[in-house]
Amino acid sequence: MSDMLQQAPRAAGTASAVPKIRLRGLRKAFGAKQVLDGVDADVAAGHSLVILGGSGSGKSVTIKCILGLVQPDEGSIEVDGRDVLAMSRREREALGDRIGMLFQNGALFDSLPVWENVCFKLLAQKRITRAKARDKAAEVLAQVGLAGSVGDLSPAELSGGMQKRVALARAIAAQPDIIFFDEPTTGLDPIMGAVIDGLIVDCVKRLGATAVSITHDMASARRIGDTAAMLHKGRIVWTGPAGALGHTGNALVDQFANGEREGPIQMELRR
Ligand SMILES: Nc1ncnc2c1ncn2[C@@H]1O[C@H](COP(=O)(O)OP(=O)(O)OP(=O)(O)O)[C@@H](O)[C@H]1O
Ligand SMILES: [Mg+2]
Repeated sequence: MSDMLQQAPRAAGTASAVPKIRLRGLRKAFGAKQVLDGVDADVAAGHSLVILGGSGSGKSVTIKCILGLVQPDEGSIEVDGRDVLAMSRREREALGDRIGMLFQNGALFDSLPVWENVCFKLLAQKRITRAKARDKAAEVLAQVGLAGSVGDLSPAELSGGMQKRVALARAIAAQPDIIFFDEPTTGLDPIMGAVIDGLIVDCVKRLGATAVSITHDMASARRIGDTAAMLHKGRIVWTGPAGALGHTGNALVDQFANGEREGPIQMELRR
C-alpha cells in the first residue's frame, strides 16, 4: 500500500521542491463513518493553506492526523519528505516541538495563569525556567498586542478576542516552523476577526512558518490563505488560490464560499 502511495503523482506546482507537508491517500473511519476517504494535499514550505469544508467534514481530523493525535487507517503523511507515520516516538516528539497549534475553541488551561499557558510547551519540556518563562510570555504577548500584565490573569478573566490572542501566543511561543490554526476567528466580531487574521499573517511571516488553517469565514480565508482546499465527502475536491474564493468556477466551492442554499451540496443532501 505505501509503495503505491509513494508513487502517487505530485500535485501541480510542486514538481521541483519537496513540500513541507504532503498527504497522500489519508483515510480514517470512526465506526461505520468514513470521515477521510483518500485525502491528498501538498503544502509548500512557507505557504499558507486554508482548508474549507462543511461541519463534520473532517477538517479537524485531518490536522489531528498530522499532529499525531489521531492515527489514520491508511495513507501517508510526510513532513520535509520524511514519513511521519514510520517515525520512532522520539522522532515524532521532536517533530511535535516544531509544530504550533491553535486549537478550535482556544483550549486554554483554565487552572493556569496566562503566562504559563503561553509557555506551556517550553515549561513542560524544561526548555526554560519559570522565571524566564514569565519574561518570554510577556514578549510573546506583546507580539499579539497584549500587555505583559495579561500574563497574570486566568483565561476565565479574558474576553473571547483576548483568549484567541493568548491561544495564538501559545501557538507561536516555541517558534514553530509549522503552525495549525483551527477556526481562529470563530465567535469573534468581524473587526476582532480581522485583527486576529492580521496577527496570524504577521506571526507566520515573522517565523517564516508553513501554515494550515481551518475556517468557515471566507473573508478570513482570503486574508490568511495563499491557497485554499475544499474537503468534501472525505476528499480534497478543489485546490486553488484563496483570493478566488466565491468566484472559482467550481459550483461546489462557490456555493460553499457564498453560503448559497441552492447548489450541488444541497442536491446531495436531498438525495
Ligand atoms: N475521536 C473521535 N471519535 C469518534 N468520532 C470522531 C472523533 N473525532 C472526530 N470524529 C467524527 O469525525 C467527523 C469529522 O470531525 P471533525 O472534527 O474533523 O469535523 P470538522 O470538519 O472539523 O467540523 P467543524 O467545522 O464542525 O469543526 C465528525 O463526524 C466527528 O463526529
Ligand atoms: Mg473542526
